[in-house]
Amino acid sequence: MSDTIQSTESAAGPEGAEGAEMQTPYGVLRPHRYDGIMEYDNPPPGWLTGLFFASIIFSLVYIPYYLAGYIYSFDTPAVNLTKELEAEAAKAKAEAKAHPERSGPTDADLRALVSDSGRVEQGKTLFAAKCAPCHGPQAQGLIGPNLTDNAWLHGGKPTEIRHTIVEGVPAKGMIPWGSQLKSDEIDALVAFVLSVRGSNPPNPKAPEGEVVDDAP
Ligand code: HEC
Repeated sequence: MSDTIQSTESAAGPEGAEGAEMQTPYGVLRPHRYDGIMEYDNPPPGWLTGLFFASIIFSLVYIPYYLAGYIYSFDTPAVNLTKELEAEAAKAKAEAKAHPERSGPTDADLRALVSDSGRVEQGKTLFAAKCAPCHGPQAQGLIGPNLTDNAWLHGGKPTEIRHTIVEGVPAKGMIPWGSQLKSDEIDALVAFVLSVRGSNPPNPKAPEGEVVDDAP
């Protein structure tokens, strides 16, 4: 490799590439040459060398200080940064929980699924397996409320229905399905629930909650 460079260099420079070190009034000129450029063999300035060693010494003090906060739990820049990131993450999570419509599918996305008979069918199968024991085979209500009327305890908008299914109402016996079903399965369930709205099944459970005039 260096052979190649040297031969190119000697071809390039009229003075010849390689020679002995050369003493000049500005210092010792080193024997090599690249693209016609030569360099002096001067030491770096004292202030730069000083800064170099000072930064090593500083790092020996600062790195343990930076990390010690984690071990002895006092506030150091690293610990503050971690706390800040955790606070941000918690804020984002609370925000997402308070506004489910801002993450995941929108009302319009979910309503659109109702006209996709494949997705509604997928929801129907899942509903029969997972939800019918509490909501009745026609979603007419049993232990859980009637899902075919327009009265809702937790909101009747598609995103609100989705939110109830994902988070559940554990205190009232409605399981949070978010951890058990895939996101697209939950979408299919919402599509099914929207598709049976107003279906007037036999033996309906009396309406519970607030009447929402929000036809899909
Ligand atoms: C163990 C019984 C049970 C199962 C299983 C169950 N639910 Fe529920 N569900 C409930 C109860 C009880 C409520 C009412 C909660 C309340 O009173 O706040 C409810 C509420 C709901 C609501 C909100 C109704 C409203 O008026 O706002 C929806 C939507 C719903 N369930 C959908 C489903 C779906 C979809 C499934 C299947 C994945 C399912 N549930 C499975 C018991 C259940």
